[in-house]
Amino acid sequence: MTQSDPRLIAALDFPTAELAKQAVEQIGDAVGYYKVGMELYYAAGNDIIRFLKSHGKKIFLDLKLQDIPNTVASALRVETMQGVDMMNIHAVGGRKMMTMAAQAVKDKAEELGIVKPKLLAVTILTSMDEEQFSELNYNNTIAEQVLALAKLAKESGLDGVVASPREAAEIRAACGPDFLIVTPGVRPKGSALDDQSRVTTPAQAFANGSTHIVVGRPIMKAADRRAAAEAIVQEIKDID
Ligand code: C5P
Repeated sequence: MTQSDPRLIAALDFPTAELAKQAVEQIGDAVGYYKVGMELYYAAGNDIIRFLKSHGKKIFLDLKLQDIPNTVASALRVETMQGVDMMNIHAVGGRKMMTMAAQAVKDKAEELGIVKPKLLAVTILTSMDEEQFSELNYNNTIAEQVLALAKLAKESGLDGVVASPREAAEIRAACGPDFLIVTPGVRPKGSALDDQSRVTTPAQAFANGSTHIVVGRPIMKAADRRAAAEAIVQEIKDID
């Protein structure tokens, strides 16, 4: 039996707590880290967080916050109190928002005496293409903007970014060895692309500098979810 690997984060993209819990039970020890996004969090709230924690799982709460600095900092203090391990905010919220956010998470974790959750920045969503991006009038290419925002996130005290496997190598070079790069759009050998277009295999993602991969449908839509997760863990272990 293949045990979980902390570099694999499985996306629990479900509309109800019941479906998510069923998936977690089926997958068992093969996954130790789950991503809870907007859909599941709005449906199930902290019930699903408590469930995952009671099963000994780590949690990436993917709510992509952006608002005035005080509001984001306050929301992150509450997320920190839930005991999640990773959270994220939009880098386009700017330096002040990110700096206050990082400080709020650090202070709250210290006050609670817990390990500080990792705080990541979302740069430019991978669903954005150059045509749509040009309408935003940043006068930059997506690649340039991603790199600028990743550097700003690092300067603001964030722990890393969510980035496509394509962007990982340049971010790694610019932001140093300790910066986290969490990468969706990963497809194990031989699996369907779904709506992802710029995909890599787990091995390619890590070779490009990613520290974690996020995988959803290749596990959750598999006939045998546990076997699908185990195959990805094995693919990761084969790289070592
Ligand atoms: O099913 P799939 O493996 O494509 O799921 C990837 C997960 O990562 C989904 O939860 C998706 O919303 C998320 N994600 C993404 N691309 C981004 C950011 C997040 O696919 N740029």
